[in-house]
Amino acid sequence: KGVTASFPILTRTDFSKSTFLIEIEHPVMAKAAKPGQFVIVMLHDLGERIPLTIADFDREKGTITLVVQAVGKSTREMQLLCRPGREIYAMLGPLGIPSDISSKTKKVICVGGGLGIAPIYPQARAFKEAGAHVIGVLGFRSSNLMFWEEKFRAICDDFIICTDDGSAGIHGLVTQGIEAAIRENPDVDEVVAIGPPVMMRACTETTRPYGIKTMVSLNPIMVDGTGMCGGCRVKVGDAIKFACVDGPDFDGHQVDFDDLFTRLQRYRPEEAAAMKRYSD
Ligand code: FES
Repeated sequence: KGVTASFPILTRTDFSKSTFLIEIEHPVMAKAAKPGQFVIVMLHDLGERIPLTIADFDREKGTITLVVQAVGKSTREMQLLCRPGREIYAMLGPLGIPSDISSKTKKVICVGGGLGIAPIYPQARAFKEAGAHVIGVLGFRSSNLMFWEEKFRAICDDFIICTDDGSAGIHGLVTQGIEAAIRENPDVDEVVAIGPPVMMRACTETTRPYGIKTMVSLNPIMVDGTGMCGGCRVKVGDAIKFACVDGPDFDGHQVDFDDLFTRLQRYRPEEAAAMKRYSD
């Protein structure tokens, strides 16, 4: 209790049965947001705190865009309730350290898979604005789940689609897209990969032999988002980091993905029980 502001949902677009986009009016957040940052939303006063990467922001319109995948109780509730005309009860952010968009990076591959496609977009755009040659590599399960192709084509110098079923672009994973991009562009100096943890790990293993700097955006379980609870602890090299305040972007070649997978599994029974209670 105690939060008085609320934030109107202006538009919603459904990309699949479980993935949807909402555009929210929040001029202050839109003004402050930078690529790579995230917000924590509460749908109502008793709602769970849900961390979501900022997929886009429009400073002129005063809006931010979030892309949500309904995988658990709270995101399923968002899927049911987040419609134009309704409001988000509370929103904290922008949180996390903005992505390092260095003008030293001359050629970058921006890789997005699944839900990571939306948050890689503002990074790709920022690299383009900083003068880099941007190669987009996007992975979808199938061509009928594709979204934002035109947005990416507008900012990418080269663009590769990969689909699991071969219905568009390369028949295969984003790692094959990365290999193809590196073959064509051996002077790539950075790769940024956002998507499911398994995908991000595969991307780091693909680039490791080439010695190309590879940044990933980690999505551990978060609670407060301000460095106090320790829930988002990740191992990066020899250091323990908190993804919410030290990240979420980290050097993918240093990340201990096995530890991340273990921690992501930790509350699966509770998550399943909450989902069952909600469905019942
Ligand atoms: Fe609590 Fe990061 S979410 S410390």
